[in-house]
Amino acid sequence: MQIVYNTESFSDKIREYKTRGNKITLIPTMGNLHQGHRVLFSKAPNSSIKVATIYVNPLQFNNIDDYQNYPKSLQTDLEVCRQNNISLVYAPDGDVSDEIVTEKSIDLPKFTRYLCGKKREGHFLGVFKVVKYLFSIVNPDFACFGKKDYQQLLLIKYLASTYFPKTNIIDVETVRDSNNIALSSRLTRLSKESYGSTFRIYETLQNMKQELLKGTSFDKLKKESIEYLKSNDIHVEYLDVRSLITLEEETDKLKSCGIFIACHIDGVRLIDNIEI
Ligand code: PAF
Repeated sequence: MQIVYNTESFSDKIREYKTRGNKITLIPTMGNLHQGHRVLFSKAPNSSIKVATIYVNPLQFNNIDDYQNYPKSLQTDLEVCRQNNISLVYAPDGDVSDEIVTEKSIDLPKFTRYLCGKKREGHFLGVFKVVKYLFSIVNPDFACFGKKDYQQLLLIKYLASTYFPKTNIIDVETVRDSNNIALSSRLTRLSKESYGSTFRIYETLQNMKQELLKGTSFDKLKKESIEYLKSNDIHVEYLDVRSLITLEEETDKLKSCGIFIACHIDGVRLIDNIEI
């Protein structure tokens, strides 16, 4: 496995692979790798060269504390990459925001203003800029992204179809632990007690799904679920039923919809979603 720390060496290595006719799968990450990332790595087609990036992108954080507290563990991450047959890792050793040149005004699709886009101002623009920057260097044949960040996944699909039409986006199912907690690097910031109660998030989503399918009113379920979570110190930021295609709110029609949640526990923000 090779590790490069600057854009020039990264571009050189990519060019070498392409000259040899290799297909490339890109797996962008912010490090602090866990089982969810291992599964992302495993979804790269076998015939391709796996390229991972490890970069905590300041442009996508709207809260400086959140950025500064984002867990970093480069040496362990590199070991995980090695064990998962990654051929090349790009891990910039500083802030590369200055290298990211974009058009003056970027018009993101409407759905980026919903859900996480409401409270996390600039978040999706930051994701868009960094992923576009990485895609411009690699122009990958495949790129893997998880469904836990469903809104991000839709944005990446928009980015690929608009600017990188030959890149196939591989959606990867949310990876959960034995208590059905959606794996996230942020979980490491929770106390043991709070971690222990996060199973209630998925439990709530599943209960809501069953009840919705039985015909129970969404408004009633939403109110009860928020109360239930609050009584367990889980504070809901949003809890919506939305179209899996447009992310428009849907309370009556359940076909091609999902339930989406963001909540705060112990000062840590977690998101999850399930398809109905
Ligand atoms: O999902 C993430 O880890 C990040 O948003 C990404 C796609 C690596 C961009 O920084």
